[in-house]
Formats: sequence, C-alpha cells, structure tokens
Amino acid sequence: ATHRTRLMAGNWKMNKVPSEARAFTRQLLGRLEAAGRPEGVEVLLCPPFPALTAVHEEIVASGAGDWVQLGAQNLYFETHGAFTGEVAGPMLADAGCRYVIVGHSERRHLFGESDETVARKVKAAFSAGLVPILCVGETIDQRRQGQTEAVIRRQLEVALEGLDEAAVAGMVIAYEPVWAIGTGENATPEEAHRVIQQVIRQRVRELTGQAAAERVRIQYGGSVNATNIADFMALDGIDGALVGGASLKVDSFTAIVAAG
Ligand code: G3P
Repeated sequence: ATHRTRLMAGNWKMNKVPSEARAFTRQLLGRLEAAGRPEGVEVLLCPPFPALTAVHEEIVASGAGDWVQLGAQNLYFETHGAFTGEVAGPMLADAGCRYVIVGHSERRHLFGESDETVARKVKAAFSAGLVPILCVGETIDQRRQGQTEAVIRRQLEVALEGLDEAAVAGMVIAYEPVWAIGTGENATPEEAHRVIQQVIRQRVRELTGQAAAERVRIQYGGSVNATNIADFMALDGIDGALVGGASLKVDSFTAIVAAG
C-alpha cells in the first residue's frame, strides 16, 4: 500500500508488426476492461515505433485512455533535423505517447548509449512533455565485484543532473538488473526492494531532496511474470513493473496488471 500510482508497463521491445500490435491491444484492452481497473494502478504499453499509432487508436477507441497509456521505447535528444533513422520526442508526443523509456540496458549495451547520452535523452523527453522512464541497473560482472551500488549511484547522478525537484518527482525510474533481463532469473523481491529503497530512492533524496524521493515512482524489471509479480508488489516502495517477455501475452500481462 503506497500513495504512488503503480505503473504496470509492457516493453514489447522489437516484437509485433503493427497489425499484430493492433489486434493484440484490442484483445488485451477487452480483457483489462472486463476485469476492471485495479485501484491505484496505471497501465502502459510500449510498442515499437511503427505500431504506436495503431496501439494509440485502439486505446482511444476502447475508452480506457484514462488508465491505459502509450509509451515509446527510445527517443533521440534533438527535436528535428538531419538525423537519419532517429525519432524525436515531439513526434512521439504527437503520436499519442505520454511516456518514453530512456537508457534501457539494451540501448546502453547493444547500441552504446553512455550515461551522458541517457541524460540528454531524459531532458529531451521532458522538453517534449513526455514522462521519462529512466532505466538503471548493474551487469553480472559489476554485481560480482560488489559494484552494484556505485554503478547505480553514478547512473542516477549523471541522468538527474540539472533536473529540478518537480521534474524528478514526476518521472519514473526502473531498476533493471541486467543479469535478470530475459534470463528467467529474477532478482529476489527482497533484493529488488533493497536496491530500490536504499540505493535508488536514497540517491534521489541526496541529489534532489526528500520531496522528490517520496514522489518518484520506481519500478522493478527483469524476468517479471504472472507468478512472481505478487511478491514484488507486496513490498512497499516497488511502484510497479517494467515487463518484457511476459507483456507479449494477453493472459500473462492481464494477470500482471491485476496484481498491481
Ligand atoms: O524492460 C523490460 C525488461 O528489460 C525485462 O525483460 O523479458 O526479462 O521481462 P524481461
């Protein structure tokens, strides 16, 4: 039980062509509406760029737009211009997005995004009126070397630099230990809770103050599924989940939302 609205988010990654995304969203929203909105829960769907419009149209048509939101998985930090292949924040906002994932570990590790690039993207998200979901987390090597806390403290320090209290209070941070992503090996709820409360929320408190630390929503991500979600959500301070694989199936994502 927390005063923060829990955010149950599906990061579809590079899955579903637009027609599949539309059919899936229609089915999912039917199931979610039938089950009813769990109290204090918001749902977020983050399809690939080409499916954003189709998913947005389905959300609007369903009438669930007050509690089901659209998000993108990435953005570029410039607003327009000669940047072939990139997508800007204002484009996402105009396509119906309210959120955008920034600094996902796959962006950091497969596409070379640095802490500094991530910081620019966080600012670009705010400038476009989007809520950034900032992903942080340690690799398995960093974990084995006892660097989890230092890595996350540094990621936050760079990404939050120059943001005021209101901005940080309104954003979302996702704790995604890299070794838990897509591996079926989730962090234990207790360990996720410890990092979220004692490392991440504490670091926000140091950098931006107590009010922002109280209000910022911090999700867990990494091999969340319909079975383990309840154990995460039972812990005060874990404000939702960022779900990959299990968000691609209507049954499992419906169950995850219900546990929110
Ligand atoms: O952003 C979600 C994520 O990286 C976790 O993926 O498949 O382990 O739920 P997955």
